[in-house]
Amino acid sequence: MELIEKIIDDKIQGKALVTENKAENSKKLFIESYGCQMNMNDSEIVAAILDKEGYNTTQILEEADLVLVNTCSIREKAETTVRKRLQKYNAVKKVNPKMKVGVLGCMAERLKEKFLEEEKIVDLVVGPDAYRDLPNLLGEVSEGRDAVNVILSKDETYGDVSPVRLNSNGVSAFVSITRGCDNMCTFCVVPFTRGRERSRDPKSILEEIQSMIDKGFKEITLLGQNVDSFLWFGGGLKKDFKKASEMAQATAVDFAQLLDMCATQFPKTRFRFSTSNPQDMSLDVIHVMAKHKNICKYIHLPVQSGSNAMLKAMNRQHTREEYMQLVDNIYKIVPEMSLSQDIIVGFCGETEQDHKDTLELMEYVKYDFGFMFAYSERPGTLAGKKMEDDVPAAVKKRRLQEVIDLQQEHALYRTQQHLGKVEEVLIEGTSKKNPNEWKGRNTQNTVIVFAKEHYKLGDFVNVKVEDCTSATLRGTAVGYSDNN
Ligand code: 5AD
Ligand code: SF4
Repeated sequence: MELIEKIIDDKIQGKALVTENKAENSKKLFIESYGCQMNMNDSEIVAAILDKEGYNTTQILEEADLVLVNTCSIREKAETTVRKRLQKYNAVKKVNPKMKVGVLGCMAERLKEKFLEEEKIVDLVVGPDAYRDLPNLLGEVSEGRDAVNVILSKDETYGDVSPVRLNSNGVSAFVSITRGCDNMCTFCVVPFTRGRERSRDPKSILEEIQSMIDKGFKEITLLGQNVDSFLWFGGGLKKDFKKASEMAQATAVDFAQLLDMCATQFPKTRFRFSTSNPQDMSLDVIHVMAKHKNICKYIHLPVQSGSNAMLKAMNRQHTREEYMQLVDNIYKIVPEMSLSQDIIVGFCGETEQDHKDTLELMEYVKYDFGFMFAYSERPGTLAGKKMEDDVPAAVKKRRLQEVIDLQQEHALYRTQQHLGKVEEVLIEGTSKKNPNEWKGRNTQNTVIVFAKEHYKLGDFVNVKVEDCTSATLRGTAVGYSDNN
C-alpha cells in the first residue's frame, strides 16, 4: 500500500509511468511524459496500443526493451529537459544495445532529422497523430531500420482506443475531447506540433466515461487545447432530415451540450475541464456549470496579457475589455467560481505600460491560481519568424517575479475566503507532508488536507476549513457528503 501511494503522490511529469502488469505480456516498456495533461493522456493511449503488442510498463530503465519519451515543445526549457533524458537513455543503451529508444509527441516533427540522422540518438520518431502506426513502426525498427511517422491528421481522435491509466490514483482521470488547435497565437508552437483542431464523437466520450466509472473513478477532467470550441456534427440518420443544414443543426453537439450530457448522465461523478479560450467560452457553458452541482466551479481561462497591444501582437481573439466582461458575467452567474490564468511576460515589444496593464487586470480578476511564463521564442511560429524577441532577459525575469508575487497575494486572498466554510472534498491521495492526512480538492480546485480518521481514498467528505496558506487549505472532516 505504501509503495502504491508513493507512486500516486509522485509528480507525473518526467517519471516512469506504470500500470498493472499482465502475465501474458513479455516485453517491457519504459515510458515518460513531459508537458501538458494532453501529453499524459496520449501516453495512456500509447500504453494501450502497446499493451496489445505484448508490452508491460516498467519503472526500471535498465530492464526496458523499449524506451519512449513523450515530448513537449512549448518552451525551450521543456526541449532541453527532454534532450538530457535522451542522453541518459543512450548511456543505458550502450550497455544494453537491444534496447530501442523512441521520441513521441510535440518535438517529433521539428527534430526528426536531427534525432534520427544527425545525432543518431533515437530509433523511432512518432508524432501525436501517428500512434496507431506504432506496431508497424516497431516492426521496421526490429528489422534494423529507423522508423518515422509524423503525419498530422485532420480526423484522428483515438476515439475507439481505451487508454491504459498510468500512475493513476484510481479516483481522477482525464478524457480527451478535442485534439489540436486552430487559434494560431503567434507565440505558440502547438498548432504546428499537434495540428488542426478536431472534436471527438460524444458517444465514444460518454462510453469512455462510463468505463472509468465502472472502474471506480469519481472525477473526470475533459481535456483539449480548446475545449469550448468542441463541436461534433454527426449522429442521426440522413433519411430523417430534409436538408443538410437541418441535419447539422439537429445533430450538432457543442461544448455546453456535451457538458450537460456528461453531468446529467453521470450525476455522482465530478466533472472538470481544461483549457478554455476566452473567445470561445459561451454563456451557455457557464449556465450549464451553474445548473449542475457535479460540474466543478473552476475555469482555467488563460489571458496571456492584460494589454490590448500585446493581445493583438499575440493574435489572441479577445481584447482586455472583452475578457473583463466575460469575467464579470462568470462571477455574476456563479459567484463562487474560481479562475486561473496563463500569463506570458516579456513578449515581443512589451513595454512597461503593457506590463502594468497585466498587473492591473490581475488585480481586477484576483485569480485563484496562475501559471506564469517568460516568453520563449519558438522556431516556426509567426513571432519566431517575424517579431523581435526584444525584452532583455533581466527585464523578463523581473516582470515575471512581479506577476508571480501578485498572484501569490491573490491566491492567499482567495484561500482566505474559504475559512470557516464546510466544503465537499474528493479524497485523492495521502498528503505529501503527513502520512496521517488525506489530500483532496474542493469544487474550486483548491487543495485541502485533513486528518484521515476512518475515511477512504475516493470518498466525498465534508470538510470544515480552519486554516490556509496561499496554496492549501487545512480542515477537519465533519462527515460524508451526500454524493457518496
Ligand atoms: N513562451 C512562453 N510561454 C508560452 N506558452 C505557450 N507558448 C509559449 C512561449 N513561446 C504558455 C501560454 C500557454 C501555456 C500552455 O504556455 O501561456 O497558455
Ligand atoms: Fe497555443 Fe493559443 Fe492554441 Fe493555446 S489557444 S494551444 S496558446 S495557439
